[in-house]
Amino acid sequence: MFPSTIYSERRKKLRSELSGGIVLFLGNTDVAFNYPANQYTFRQDSNFSYFFGLDHPDLAGLMDLDGGKDIIFGNDLDIDDIIWMGQQPSIAEQAAKAGVTVTFPLVELAEYIGMAVAKGRRIHFVPTYRAETRVQLAGLLANDHHKIHDHASHDLIRAIVKLRMVKDEIEVKEIEKMIDVAYTMHTTAMKMAMPGVVEQKIAGTIEGIALANAGPVSFPVILTVNGQTLHNHYHGNVLSEGRMMVIDAGCENELHYASDITRTVPVGGKFSQRQREIYEIVLKANMEATKAVKPGVPFKDIHILAATVIAKGLTALGLMKGDPKEAVANGAHTLFFPHGLGHPLGLDVHDLEGMGENFVGYDSEIQRSKEFGLGFLRFGRKLQTGFVMTIEPGIYFIPELIGIWKKENKNADFINYDKVMSYLDFGGIRIEDDVLVTADGVRVLGRPIPKTVEEIEQIMGK
Ligand code: GLY
Repeated sequence: MFPSTIYSERRKKLRSELSGGIVLFLGNTDVAFNYPANQYTFRQDSNFSYFFGLDHPDLAGLMDLDGGKDIIFGNDLDIDDIIWMGQQPSIAEQAAKAGVTVTFPLVELAEYIGMAVAKGRRIHFVPTYRAETRVQLAGLLANDHHKIHDHASHDLIRAIVKLRMVKDEIEVKEIEKMIDVAYTMHTTAMKMAMPGVVEQKIAGTIEGIALANAGPVSFPVILTVNGQTLHNHYHGNVLSEGRMMVIDAGCENELHYASDITRTVPVGGKFSQRQREIYEIVLKANMEATKAVKPGVPFKDIHILAATVIAKGLTALGLMKGDPKEAVANGAHTLFFPHGLGHPLGLDVHDLEGMGENFVGYDSEIQRSKEFGLGFLRFGRKLQTGFVMTIEPGIYFIPELIGIWKKENKNADFINYDKVMSYLDFGGIRIEDDVLVTADGVRVLGRPIPKTVEEIEQIMGK
């Protein structure tokens, strides 16, 4: 945990954003894997972690804004627990580490909330993403769990987004530590990407590196020679010469700060001419987009910039045609780059997304597009100093999508379908870094992971 003052200070800031009532943060519970006593590895809720820091199941944090006190609800262990789990610090001792001096047994939470509701006090809570928490919340508020999210506090969501989006130095340090572990994960994967190796061997090895050096992976490892499927979690293919392998992986630490990095390498370690040509376009999009990051710039504009670099590159190769800017305005590039440029990163790999993407990534000034491609952009609003974002452009040849567009002759003024058809076996390329928005621009975080053609060929030993 950070020093207790960090958590007290965060709650003080949150208090100053809200006008009254009670703020309720339910920590996560253990979740059964295949029978009640066999559980998934415990993962604390990120908001609970941010404001209260404690990393155990069955806790609730409450901020009574009018009474000016913070309370942790939780149960001390009984002898049965101690037999199985060993002695643990008391709830009061744990709470002190979060700067909280008032504690109650968990069973008293219902009474506290019940009395507040009876008095007509406002209970601020955020939407839940786990069934267990949703049922617990609905029970506390005597509401239907199907409808409980209708009562989530938008004021609280906005306040949390405002605070958590801006990372301070100690948070950036934690993220960078995780990128440094990702360095080892990715360079190990690169060296293993040789013909005859099964994807699972590499995916398992890098997940082991995460576990051995940090915590779990921050999301299920994406590692595949079929990178045209954006989130491909199938690891059963045997690597063969001529394919490219996408590695999209990161890890999180005990505080839950995450990394999220993508690299794409040629199986065998040497880029073919065709692979290199497409790779250099994605690399350029990654670098130009990174250079454009600075406070005040809408991320949507940087997404469009990356899309334009991609359209220009593909036009130069003869896969697209016409004016690249016009092509992007018409969405023609989305045949090859259908996803958004990136997302915030922090305690969640898609930071804060559980509370609703539009609260995080859009505002009254910049609203989410409904168009194919641009609509997938998770974050469009202006950047601010202290934001940590991923920059992850890609080019993909998705046979099913190409088939549909070709049949409809969609964007035929901008797409050279005859040439595109000769790339159906190509796969996909994505290159992703994690960057910090600084007062005067951008800093790419962590130990640089091989990214240029030369760096990748060198580390792969060719
Ligand atoms: N890197 C995985 C994701 O952004 O969803």
